Amino acid sequence: MAEITLKPITRENWRACTLLKVADDQRSFVAPNMFSLLQVLYQDPTDTFAPFGIYADETMVGFIMYGMGEFGGMHGWEIWRLMIDQRYQKQGYGRLALQQMITLMREKLQPDAIYIMFEVGNDVAQALYAGLGFTDTGIIDDGEHVYKLDLSEPF
Ligand SMILES: CC(C)(COP(=O)(O)OP(=O)(O)OC[C@H]1O[C@@H](n2cnc3c(N)ncnc32)[C@H](O)[C@@H]1OP(=O)(O)O)[C@@H](O)C(=O)NCCC(=O)NCCS
Repeated sequence: MAEITLKPITRENWRACTLLKVADDQRSFVAPNMFSLLQVLYQDPTDTFAPFGIYADETMVGFIMYGMGEFGGMHGWEIWRLMIDQRYQKQGYGRLALQQMITLMREKLQPDAIYIMFEVGNDVAQALYAGLGFTDTGIIDDGEHVYKLDLSEPF
């Protein structure tokens, strides 16, 4: 199996990132990567967003980023916009990328919790996140479930 790694989006790889696409029936689940990269540039002046390409060996197959999120009157570190290009889905890459993102955030940010949101009806995302230990906060923010990974226990 290919080696999965997360590599920061830079001037070398941002174009490849914008070319990645989900299937037509998944488009309501995640914003286009082009939008996410613009959001990173313009939304947050405190510069908390960190976008990454998901690589299988040397090929960028997906996108993921973290940033400060706000949901139901709270805020916290959040994983945003996980997507695997439709050509590369169902090969285990999404789960591995998410696991690596959690490890990266724990090492860099030492958060008490990591949040993740997904559209009501995105059953694949729900099962994936629950399988990695995220639990339902019960909050639905703007049509999206808010799930939480509790990290208050030490590593
Ligand atoms: C969600 C997503 C990132 C998963 O990526 P992936 O690389 O295909 O996922 P994996 O191969 O690691 O599979 C994870 C699990 O999901 C299941 N799965 C993946 N795609 C599936 C599909 N289309 N239908 C049913 N199950 C699916 C896998 O079988 C696996 O289940 P298992 O734990 O029982 O083995 C990908 O489907 C995607 O990009 N979807 C569109 C964007 C999206 O919804 N992003 C989430 C935004 S919050």
